[in-house]
Amino acid sequence: MWYHTIELAPGIVTPGWFDTRAVAPTLPIPASLAGLRCLDIGTFDGFWAFEMERRGASEVVAVDLADLRDCDWPDNSTAEVIAEIAGGPPQGTGFRIAADALGSNVKRHTSSIYDVGPDDLGYFDFVYIGSLLLHLRDPVRALAAARSVCRGRLLLVDAVDLGLTVLHPRRPVAGLDGNGRPWWWKANQAGLVRMLVSAGWVLDAKPLRFSMPPGPGHPPARPSVKVLRHAAGREALLRTYKGDPHCALLARPA
Ligand SMILES: C[S@@+](CC[C@H](N)C(=O)[O-])C[C@H]1O[C@@H](n2cnc3c(N)ncnc32)[C@H](O)[C@@H]1O
Repeated sequence: MWYHTIELAPGIVTPGWFDTRAVAPTLPIPASLAGLRCLDIGTFDGFWAFEMERRGASEVVAVDLADLRDCDWPDNSTAEVIAEIAGGPPQGTGFRIAADALGSNVKRHTSSIYDVGPDDLGYFDFVYIGSLLLHLRDPVRALAAARSVCRGRLLLVDAVDLGLTVLHPRRPVAGLDGNGRPWWWKANQAGLVRMLVSAGWVLDAKPLRFSMPPGPGHPPARPSVKVLRHAAGREALLRTYKGDPHCALLARPA
């Protein structure tokens, strides 16, 4: 399965779960990253790492797990669900195909975000972490580990709970899934900011809310009584028609 929609050659586009192509120019990533060392944590097929390379980064390192079985699975996950989610081609297959097609020099490094540190990786001027925190049991520990390798800016992008953001514009709150699959905390916008701050970062710009558009590989949800009855169904509908609510936060180490 392709997560990212990547144009490998003119007219040849991967059937991604999301299509991040129109989002990239709207995020606060410097138009030129010339001379900067950049890091993409949780790279999947590498869209954001390739984007940083395209913007002239002197070096890009892309970190991800060796296998989706190494994700933070809740203890009540069943072998069937793990096989369904993690049973595809080895993690990194899409990245390697895309890197070859694009002639990319991005280096893929196998590690959990919890284990990134300057001894292995050195320091980075620009760090990107996208749609990863919601899959982590301990997002604050992960953000603290990312801070240990950042000497410049972090762009944190993650899913936010829109309802909790509207209901509690200032109070940090999060919904907890943690039920049989590696989906954990979905914070409201204030919650995502608090995670950053409690991990030793300071915000550098106003939070930016946007929708992550589904890609050609995303099965569309159709409205029906059954779909509308459950929160997961309503979220899938929202994703199909409006995209997935996300927030982008630019930060630097405190
Ligand atoms: C939802 S995808 C997001 C892909 C990409 N970062 C983006 O923003 O489009 C989550 C990615 O995080 C990776 N991941 C999950 N747990 C991780 C961990 N503990 N450390 C590093 N990567 C992890 C997954 O393998 C997957 O590639």
